[in-house]
Amino acid sequence: RRIDLLGVATASGASVRGCGMGPEALRVAGLVEALMELEHVVADHGDLRRPQPELSLDPSSTRLPDERKADVLDLAARASDAGLAILQDGYFPLFIGGDHSISMGTISAVARHCAPKGKPVHVIWVDAHADYNTPDTSPSGNLHGMPLALLCGETEFDESFRGAWLGRIDPHDVTIFGARSIDREERRLVQARGVDVVDMRKIDQLGVVAALQKVIDKARAAGAHLHVSFDVDSIDPAIAPGGGTLVPGGLTYREAHLVMEMLHDSGLVGSLDVVELNPFLDHGGKTATLMVDLVASLFGRSIMGEEAGPVEFI
Ligand code: ARG
Ligand code: MN
Ligand code: MN
Ligand code: MN
Repeated sequence: RRIDLLGVATASGASVRGCGMGPEALRVAGLVEALMELEHVVADHGDLRRPQPELSLDPSSTRLPDERKADVLDLAARASDAGLAILQDGYFPLFIGGDHSISMGTISAVARHCAPKGKPVHVIWVDAHADYNTPDTSPSGNLHGMPLALLCGETEFDESFRGAWLGRIDPHDVTIFGARSIDREERRLVQARGVDVVDMRKIDQLGVVAALQKVIDKARAAGAHLHVSFDVDSIDPAIAPGGGTLVPGGLTYREAHLVMEMLHDSGLVGSLDVVELNPFLDHGGKTATLMVDLVASLFGRSIMGEEAGPVEFI
């Protein structure tokens, strides 16, 4: 398989700086080598960068969300166009962030690619958060908390968010997996739109296998392109400290790997985001290394190798 790597080096959707360095940290942690080891062909497109330097009189304090908006939209539009070109060429786009606002662009690419072919898109959003705030419901104003709402067609976004780059997904075709921090108004919206939320309590009760198998079965029955949007804060902060919006009680090492192995075995995954890695907050590359191992699992690394064949999940 050919995997096309596209970095989107930005933290403009977040209030904590540092995840703009995420793409390089994933490369330093051996992302490309891990994929090549699995006999994939990798084409690295390098990184999209924000158009303006992030000037600030006080480097420790970030600019206001509104001052960062133009960066977010510029990068979303470019990520959408670049991602679409990769998909049209028949390759697997692996988007590395960058904060989660980049998914406004990456998932738009997938939607624009699939819509003309009548192919449904299912998004599995692996995250501690729902990222379904609108400008009206967001307590922080940070755009990394809003990508799903924009993609699902919520109307409280101004005209600057519209453009040929923006694709649409159906909220019924979204599963938020691993959630444990959803804002009050955001929760109301998610429920009203019928988004499937597999929160940590469900995962505790059902287990990762039963919870995820339902999602895979649904995507398979629909003949969907499965897009995985993986926020590093879905994982427990004890093993993944390199994030700016950590929440306790996340996926364990084993659960996260099993998720990736099952997604691999499904054969349905056609695109992937890895977002919110903040190397400035990471502990000596611990989170970056974990993410490389998780991505490798999604692309076929297994303990016993190919011969063992996929595990039967019941
Ligand atoms: N719900 C909070 C907000 O809207 C946190 C969002 C965190 N999102 C993320 N992609 N890490 O500000
Ligand atoms: Mn997120
Ligand atoms: Mn998150
Ligand atoms: Mn629907």
